[in-house]
Amino acid sequence: MKIKKAIIPIAGKGTRFLPATKEIAKEIIPIINVPMIHYIVQEAVEAGIEQIIFVTSSGKFSVEDYFDRNQELEAFLERNNKTKELELIRKIGSMVDVTAVRQKEQLGLGHAVLMAKSMVGDEPFAVLLGDDIVINEKPAIKQLMEVSLAHAGSTVIGVMEVPKEDTAKYGIVRGEFLNDRTLRMNGMVEKPKPEEAPTNLATPGRYILTPEIFEILEKIPRGAGNEYQLTDAINVLCQRKSVYAYKFEGERFDTGNIHGYLDATIDFALKDPETREKFIQSLQHRIKKYGIKI
Ligand code: G1P
Repeated sequence: MKIKKAIIPIAGKGTRFLPATKEIAKEIIPIINVPMIHYIVQEAVEAGIEQIIFVTSSGKFSVEDYFDRNQELEAFLERNNKTKELELIRKIGSMVDVTAVRQKEQLGLGHAVLMAKSMVGDEPFAVLLGDDIVINEKPAIKQLMEVSLAHAGSTVIGVMEVPKEDTAKYGIVRGEFLNDRTLRMNGMVEKPKPEEAPTNLATPGRYILTPEIFEILEKIPRGAGNEYQLTDAINVLCQRKSVYAYKFEGERFDTGNIHGYLDATIDFALKDPETREKFIQSLQHRIKKYGIKI
């Protein structure tokens, strides 16, 4: 079954990006001139997603507005013959169908996903978390869709290897490898301490789920951090059905923290022919200016 809907939870306060997030939704903070959320939505759209369901909280209207048409700006650009910019703005405004549902209390990722239940209906769907940008020719979420399709529409969790000392930051999966990249899962645990982690295979927030997860989410108790965890619901599902994990291909940037955000910014500036040369000059100049030895 074709997966047409994607849930993107964006209700978080983005405290790591204060003071900017006092007034700006974290998702709108740009990497150079493109808001972080653009990359997440683009990944979904390139994978064939037709509808994005944002799970929001107060102060997030700018994210919905970003993907809407802006007639006033379009008229201004048109009057001033800014054809290239006009085309770009129009393209974003018609990129994908966007809807939003409120998460009135931040009770965890499992709770956030459950908020979108009635909008998803009775079909498989994708979940993408906004803190991780994954760059790959074939979008990470598309890779998971293909694995799901190859396994009768099963649930598939995107994973990557992380250093053992980092397991407490992620949902960690366990299972048996069916091939180099695919595992049949037998469980999943949220943020285990390194000494308790079953593997070092972590999810950076890419999931293909089936509607059955909602019924589990309605019943699970609070878990790690006293929150309703999506991980715990997936763990329950593993005991009932075949669930898979897939080590997707792609470079991942952890833009949920300042260091990962800087990393992405530098990488994107070096990759883009429009910024590359001047940026290299600037880096060289500043390395000299601050007497940095490299
Ligand atoms: C959430 C999930 C976790 C996942 C992580 C990826 O945690 O609960 O399983 O590995 O996102 O970023 P959070 O980072 O919101 O605490």
